Amino acid sequence: MANETEKPEFWESAFDEKKEMWGFTPSKSAVLTKDFFVQKLTKNILIPGIGYGRNAQIFKENGITVTGIEISKTAIELARKHYGTDMIIHHGSVTDMPFDKYQYDGIFCYALIHLLDASEREKLIRDCYNQLSDNGYMIFTMISKEAHTYGQGKFLSEDRYEIFDGVKMFFYDRESIKSEFNQYGLFEITEINENQPFFLIKCKKETTR
Ligand SMILES: C[S@@+](CC[C@H](N)C(=O)[O-])C[C@H]1O[C@@H](n2cnc3c(N)ncnc32)[C@H](O)[C@@H]1O
Repeated sequence: MANETEKPEFWESAFDEKKEMWGFTPSKSAVLTKDFFVQKLTKNILIPGIGYGRNAQIFKENGITVTGIEISKTAIELARKHYGTDMIIHHGSVTDMPFDKYQYDGIFCYALIHLLDASEREKLIRDCYNQLSDNGYMIFTMISKEAHTYGQGKFLSEDRYEIFDGVKMFFYDRESIKSEFNQYGLFEITEINENQPFFLIKCKKETTR
């Protein structure tokens, strides 16, 4: 069940009012990740927090099968309208993962993890890792403490603020990335500007056999 931290009504009303609020161009991180996944011959990926699909299309155009998870029904309807109905999108909160029993070659999670609290972030990372195939890669992007919004709004806990009503954010630095992802095959941390300073990080699930 969605809990207090990830109020679906915030995202419902945001998509209802603003519709395709980030346009149709994929984020820089999605373009870089597409190149990476193509190079690694990735065939199927999971996108938690897929929104209305602007970051999914570029993978589909490159022959990658995409499955999404999204909390907003309105965003899912927009995704269907613009990008067709051939993509499975599970309606629900990532806190209720897993939604299926598949193992994915890749996971791309853009600008979602920083919306969660500490235990939800830990569960998301673990659940994503559990749904990765051996030798699969998971790529996350998250907001950095370098963002001008860092420290604004109501203080909730270390590096976590309610920046406006209903939106709580955890701001990352290299130390918090390492402490959350090191045990999940973290091998690269890159800084990237997505209108705000973000990190793009890569993890690999090493073959266990
Ligand atoms: C900052 S937006 C990024 C959207 C998308 N990746 C993009 O840039 O096009 C975060 C997305 O995650 C969704 N979301 C927020 N909390 C969620 C949760 N707990 N479970 C699933 N989706 C969630 C929102 O509805 C929204 O679509």
